[in-house]
Amino acid sequence: MKDENILEVQQLKKHFHLGKNRILQAVNNVTFQVRRGETFGLVGESGCGKSTIGRTIMGLYDRTEGNVIFDGQNVHERNEKEMFMLRQRMQMIFQDPYASLNPRSTVREVISEPMEVHKLYKNKKEQNERVFELLEEVGLNRDHANRYPHEFSGGQRQRIGIARALALNPDFIIADEPISALDVSVQAQVVNLLKQLQEEKGLTFLFIAHDLSMVKQISDRIGVMYLGNMVELTESDSLYEKPLHPYTQALLSAIPIPDPDIEEARERIILQGELPSPINPPSGCVFRTRCPFAMEICSQKKPAWQEVDDNHFVACHLYLEDRKQKQHTEPVVKIR
Ligand SMILES: Nc1ncnc2c1ncn2[C@@H]1O[C@H](COP(=O)(O)OP(=O)(O)OP(=O)(O)O)[C@@H](O)[C@H]1O
Ligand SMILES: [Mg+2]
Repeated sequence: MKDENILEVQQLKKHFHLGKNRILQAVNNVTFQVRRGETFGLVGESGCGKSTIGRTIMGLYDRTEGNVIFDGQNVHERNEKEMFMLRQRMQMIFQDPYASLNPRSTVREVISEPMEVHKLYKNKKEQNERVFELLEEVGLNRDHANRYPHEFSGGQRQRIGIARALALNPDFIIADEPISALDVSVQAQVVNLLKQLQEEKGLTFLFIAHDLSMVKQISDRIGVMYLGNMVELTESDSLYEKPLHPYTQALLSAIPIPDPDIEEARERIILQGELPSPINPPSGCVFRTRCPFAMEICSQKKPAWQEVDDNHFVACHLYLEDRKQKQHTEPVVKIR
């Protein structure tokens, strides 16, 4: 019986040393698990550490502290050969497919390169057949194989990026803002393609996004990040219906609601102040300088990461106080 979790991120810390004793705390004590076959959404505004987590999981960055366990193996304790094998099973899709595809390579070369590195096929013919098959799987066709990335639209280029990520038959894919650069109409198509591929191949996704609007549709569970910290984690439905952390509530209230009456009537949380620097983050709770509900304790003590409801984790003093008094765990404010 395989483990339920394909990935365990345990107390992960990634700090960048910038020289002159300046340390940028990109990721701080982040803990979450990704279950086999699910889509885990990782959400938070620009600079909160999402890509750094992705790259550290892939072993592209060393960790500062903590562990990344992929299918029982500690990513940062593998030797080169073991890492090479592990890489086959984890792949990344990027925001800007154009920047991540070599403009001088044909689509065939782009997709077959990882196959060649990993010596997946005995001969060119088999390899080409697989390239054609992959093109068809992502909604392109074999005639596209000899063209160059610039000949394609943004959505098609992302399909090429997806085909490349699938070239080694991975079981885990980190999609780092794969639709952020695409037109809204094309976004849904790419999301549908990812969903369909997930069903067909039993893939597990870590889906990174900076806002919550598309993530709900694709994610089973969502982790919300702020300034290098994970502040809330739960099933997508609970996150939307019962967001506990004030930052999650603010992110949700930023999504426009199509119905003008509801849109008019609802309460919006506008965050005050600037996003602090991860080089010099606030003491205690990193969100406190922008939190409408900040209390004295918030500057003194870092809130613990607690499961306040079934499978619903939050790091916020509002709920920990509630819990101690054995009160309910209702959201502090209702935004809709
Ligand atoms: N290689 C690096 N060296 C130094 N600092 C870095 C490095 N990579 C990222 N950072 C810093 O770490 C923090 C987190 O960056 P990261 O790219 O992980 O954020 P992100 O959530 O992916 O943002 P975005 O939504 O803009 O992609 C930022 O302050 C960034 O400037
Ligand atoms: Mg990023």
